[in-house]
Amino acid sequence: MKIGDRHYRSIWLEDGEVRIIDQRWLPHDFRIATLGSLEDFATAIRDMWVRGAPLIGATAAFGIAREMARDPSHQNLDRACALLNATRPTAINLKWALDRCRAALAPLADEDRAKTALSLACEISDEDVEINRQIGLHGMALIRDIARQKSNGTVQILTHCNAGWLATVDWGTATSPMYQAANADIPIHVWVDETRPRNQGALTAWELGAHGIDHTYITDNAGGHLMQRGDVDLVITGTDRTTKSGDVCNKIGTYLKALAAHDNGIPFYVALPSPTIDWTVGDGVAEIPIEARDGHEVSNIQGSASDGGIAKVRVTPSDTHCGNPAFDVTPARLVTGLITERGISPASAEGLAAMFPEHAQ
Ligand code: MRU
Repeated sequence: MKIGDRHYRSIWLEDGEVRIIDQRWLPHDFRIATLGSLEDFATAIRDMWVRGAPLIGATAAFGIAREMARDPSHQNLDRACALLNATRPTAINLKWALDRCRAALAPLADEDRAKTALSLACEISDEDVEINRQIGLHGMALIRDIARQKSNGTVQILTHCNAGWLATVDWGTATSPMYQAANADIPIHVWVDETRPRNQGALTAWELGAHGIDHTYITDNAGGHLMQRGDVDLVITGTDRTTKSGDVCNKIGTYLKALAAHDNGIPFYVALPSPTIDWTVGDGVAEIPIEARDGHEVSNIQGSASDGGIAKVRVTPSDTHCGNPAFDVTPARLVTGLITERGISPASAEGLAAMFPEHAQ
């Protein structure tokens, strides 16, 4: 996507180095970081310099490529995969990318691993871009249908977290239909959930603003009220792991939006790239590991200070214990449809098996 005059991906190769947009400072400061060692890659994923399920997967693949250039032994491949896989537990794209790297690299001779690992990381990135572009086209058709049914034409979309281009390699998942709709001159307005505790909604607001899309940043608690008043036509969120039966695990708070949408008869769609489907899991609530992050992310909030710097302030008493479950699971029954790169699927085992028969047992 474009920042000023330049087209960026969220991760890219430049002069033989792996560069990322360091998302810790957005939306206040645009900084680029270079990742070199395996530990750099692990830190960048764990500490959320990069974030979002598809981008985490692509970053891990580049981490393996860099590490194979240093030591391409089979033993080191296993070590690197284990180390990266332990960084964040919920988004399945991390394991998906590492499994794919290991399957492609393990059978090779040591001297062939580095080159293949780098092509694979580039391939995974390019595939992600194309998957998300396709999701955008299918989602745009949905938005266009709603626009045609509305007298004033503007489609009101609510989204949670940042499932934007920053969370993928490009386009985003939930935002891709918005970008495609805007490019096709379909009028939209986006309600952007703040998404406490880390306020990924600010990243979404930054992206949408850069693309000239009309949007309003709201507190996490405002969505139900807006739905009751008829101010939301459609909810689109991303996902970190979707089960083979269509349960959707996404950023904490997604479930509450799905409940409110259900109560108000508002369609609730999830943008789902196929690498985010965990074909080994049936019951999302019982089986998906939910990342528990540091309570410090809840007790403290980061923003732009009046002196222009970036500052953190504490919002709780210093000794308050804070809980920080980072994701929740929305059961399939609350999901109207899954927008995949192959089309829109019902959120059900039958729907997903029909859309991806090569994975159906
Ligand atoms: O903790 P984060 O910021 O990595 O969580 C991101 C999300 O929950 C996104 O909605 C999800 O990864 C989909 S990204 C296309």
